[in-house]
Amino acid sequence: MTDSLWWRSAAVYQVYVRSFADCDGDGIGDLAGIRSRLPYLRDLGVDALWLTPFYASPMVDGGYDVADYRRVDPAFGDLDDFDAMIADAHAAGLRIIVDVVPNHTSSAHPWFLAALAAAPGSTERERYLFRDGRGPDGAEPPNDWQSIFGGPAWTRVEDGQWYLHLFDPAQPDLNWRNPEVRAEFEDVLRFWLDRGVDGFRIDVAHGMIKAEGLPDVGPVPGGRQIGLLGKARLPYFDQDEVHEIYRAWRPILDSYPGDRMAVAEAWAETPQRLARYIGPDELHQAFNFDFLDATFTADSFRKVIDGSLAEADLVGAPTTWVLSNHDKPRHVTRYGDGPAGLHRARAAALLMLALPGSAYLYQGEELGLPEVLDLPDECRQDPAFPRTGESRDGCRVPVPWSGTAPPFGFGPEGGAPAWLPAPATWREYTVEAQTGDPGSTLELYRAALRVRRDQPALRDGTLRWLEAEPDVLAFVREGDDGSAIACVVNLSGAPVTVPVAGRPLVASAPLDASGSVTHATPAVLAPETAVWLELSSVG
Ligand code: GLC
Repeated sequence: MTDSLWWRSAAVYQVYVRSFADCDGDGIGDLAGIRSRLPYLRDLGVDALWLTPFYASPMVDGGYDVADYRRVDPAFGDLDDFDAMIADAHAAGLRIIVDVVPNHTSSAHPWFLAALAAAPGSTERERYLFRDGRGPDGAEPPNDWQSIFGGPAWTRVEDGQWYLHLFDPAQPDLNWRNPEVRAEFEDVLRFWLDRGVDGFRIDVAHGMIKAEGLPDVGPVPGGRQIGLLGKARLPYFDQDEVHEIYRAWRPILDSYPGDRMAVAEAWAETPQRLARYIGPDELHQAFNFDFLDATFTADSFRKVIDGSLAEADLVGAPTTWVLSNHDKPRHVTRYGDGPAGLHRARAAALLMLALPGSAYLYQGEELGLPEVLDLPDECRQDPAFPRTGESRDGCRVPVPWSGTAPPFGFGPEGGAPAWLPAPATWREYTVEAQTGDPGSTLELYRAALRVRRDQPALRDGTLRWLEAEPDVLAFVREGDDGSAIACVVNLSGAPVTVPVAGRPLVASAPLDASGSVTHATPAVLAPETAVWLELSSVG
């Protein structure tokens, strides 16, 4: 990997800060906790960390409601902790990507407090989207937009005006047509770039500009506008003008040494429209949620892989892959939960890590963690839960590190209970329990990430599909140096013939009765299993 291209093929590990490691014993993960676990992350073999928001926040939406973009929330530490963490990360060869949340602030942000205190039409209100209501007394919301967390996207304030919040009422949307808003965020980017961050993950990157006049969406099938995401353009998403913002941000990133990058959390109705966020004058990458949404079948994965690679070709950028994040049920559970779900998740991980581009891993997936489905309702903190009955808390349960009882080394002995309880069954998932066990998911990830790092073919190699039986995905990555690695994934329920001869490097399940993965070329591949083979001559 050449230094300047680090993000093109990076394995990026998402740290959900609240749930990663608690150093000060308050039951909430923190920056010092991340710092203490950097050796673990270095040994795991990832290239970069993406930290979810750790800024000053009332935590209505887990920190995606920011009250001060330049301050660390006391629950997570302070700026000195950040500086110490990033210095150690860089020394360990790990890059740091931080979240930027530009679509909305917290309702506790000084700008919003000033807007509430000011009169309709004031410059303070102009930073947000305040409007008069409809109906005789203005008692109806200004339009029919719905919040992604359920209910109307408008809340009325004392003097009768309404403000827009695409998410929780505690997350008022900013007015990105206001130059003051643009200048503020450009300064926030510089603040963190000056502190050494290697990149940004841009939250709701497609949402900042709303269609002129805030037109109604109109009736939608199923009644929930959010269901249209990615399938139809909504007046509050993916508006052409949003690209002006990124064209202003890119020169800022480029003005810093060391190849700083930005990845968009963007949704668009077609791959072509998503590709518009990426390029030399906009952002470096966008998340590819189609891979996460694919079902565990050869057809579904193949369609997404071909579509994503074609889309990346359109803009000459590498694609990204993701199986889990802090907003979606963990993929072990999506694939069927229990041992069967884990077996499939391990095969999917080898598929993802063999594809060209960068892979975003979510903390705990390297441990094979399932979604926690039976959290008591009173523990759930997702603001969507009371309104929709859906909650993202089950994928945010703190990481189990060691020991035999909750919270499994998440915090120091005698500390406060973790903010979400881990199930007692997680004793078998701890880092301690899995370390050194060749059959564990942790050792599978370590082995795969090591091979991915060491093999130029997996870093920068081209991808060529091989002929294979139905329900089998087989492709070769070929490096410039003549090296070649094949990835074969059997997505069927029966053993299949391996279509290429080579030396197994990593497999998601034992390849023969002896449990060996370093055996000579396997003739058959067990159901729902993946293997990487080093090819001596390309087949
Ligand atoms: C993004 C985040 C999600 C958050 C939302 C609002 O989708 O990933 O966690 O709730 O934005 O900021």
